[in-house]
Amino acid sequence: MSKNPEVIAAHGGQLVNRIATASEKEEFLGQAEKLPRVQLDERALSDLVMIAIGGFSPLTGFMEQADYEPVVESMRLANGLPWSIPIILSVTEEVAEPLKEGSWVRLDDPRGKFVGILELTQKYRYNKAHEVTNVYGTDESKHPGVKVVYDSGPINLAGPIWLLERDPHRQFPKYQIDPADTRALFQAKGWRSVVGFQTRNPIHRAHEYIQKCALETVDGLLLHPLVGATKSDDIPADVRMRCYEIILEKYYPKDRVILAINPAAMRYAGPREAIFHALVRKNYGCTHFIVGRDHAGVGDYYGTYDAQYIFDEFQPGELGIVPMKFEHAFYCQITQTMATSKTSPSTPEQRIHLSGTKVREMLCRGELPPPEFSRPEVAAELARAMQGQT
Ligand code: ADX
Repeated sequence: MSKNPEVIAAHGGQLVNRIATASEKEEFLGQAEKLPRVQLDERALSDLVMIAIGGFSPLTGFMEQADYEPVVESMRLANGLPWSIPIILSVTEEVAEPLKEGSWVRLDDPRGKFVGILELTQKYRYNKAHEVTNVYGTDESKHPGVKVVYDSGPINLAGPIWLLERDPHRQFPKYQIDPADTRALFQAKGWRSVVGFQTRNPIHRAHEYIQKCALETVDGLLLHPLVGATKSDDIPADVRMRCYEIILEKYYPKDRVILAINPAAMRYAGPREAIFHALVRKNYGCTHFIVGRDHAGVGDYYGTYDAQYIFDEFQPGELGIVPMKFEHAFYCQITQTMATSKTSPSTPEQRIHLSGTKVREMLCRGELPPPEFSRPEVAAELARAMQGQT
């Protein structure tokens, strides 16, 4: 493998960096007490961070209406570049009212700490019903992503942002590898092709199977668990990360895999989020992205392969990252290996299907996932975590 190959360009061509320089930070701190404040929730905070570190390149701030509307309507920014999820800062009328377009707004984290600046270029109302129908494919408020939209304020604050400082992650400092750093790592390792893996569930054997199938054809694997806000019944990120540490130790080739956190929040937007997840991983330097069954789905809102079909709505090469699509993987009782219907001789009755949801349900009933579901070391860790909760 030749050393220092080119890493693919970020989405839009340039990796964004909106972390304040020392002099910008000094200027912002000097104004801190005078500026109007907006308090961010966990999701808005993670969006701020993702913009600042370039994970959401080419975005440099929260979307203005000119970007928001075509994104909702047709998955494109105003300049035509593919983008499938609105990145907006929605606030109440009371919060928006005193803020003046053209001025700076101080952004505080949920604990009240000054974390960023918004140069407010626009305030606008938006149509929530239209957004959720287009982006989530449903207007039911029991969909967790739709609920977040309905619970948000009616006014979007838009404009470029700065993050005051890039603090180490409170839980996973060792795994906080930002896009500029993953890119440098891939280059140093001489990886020309890297496949990204998104996940919000504890690793199970179908995950491992598709990751390893993907790894057969590329140089490296970026395991990229999402650690931003998830719905309350998802397994907490610290448990998921421990499972990854444990399984990597014994079951993966050390020199072909990088584990790093994705600090973004989960939207549960299924197909639209699969495109978004892929573009984010492109910004981290991945050339390929795994899309399996019901990617980023929730409940029965999306068809098993809708998140794969949506990639066909773009011209080949337009997204700049290649989706690696996998069929629903299961444990085949005939061959006693993981497989899909493409590779297994089994009848449907001879297949053990697993999913993050099933693993969660078993753990809640106090049952350990069997070896066909989870590696025993992972099952033991999950059991330990569940006992800690009771
Ligand atoms: S997700 O919300 O982040 O997509 P999850 O962590 O369960 O949820 O899935 C991570 C990735 O693995 C997704 O691409 C998903 O489609 C894929 N995946 C999960 N389970 C299976 C399975 N049994 N067969 C094939 N792909 C799967």
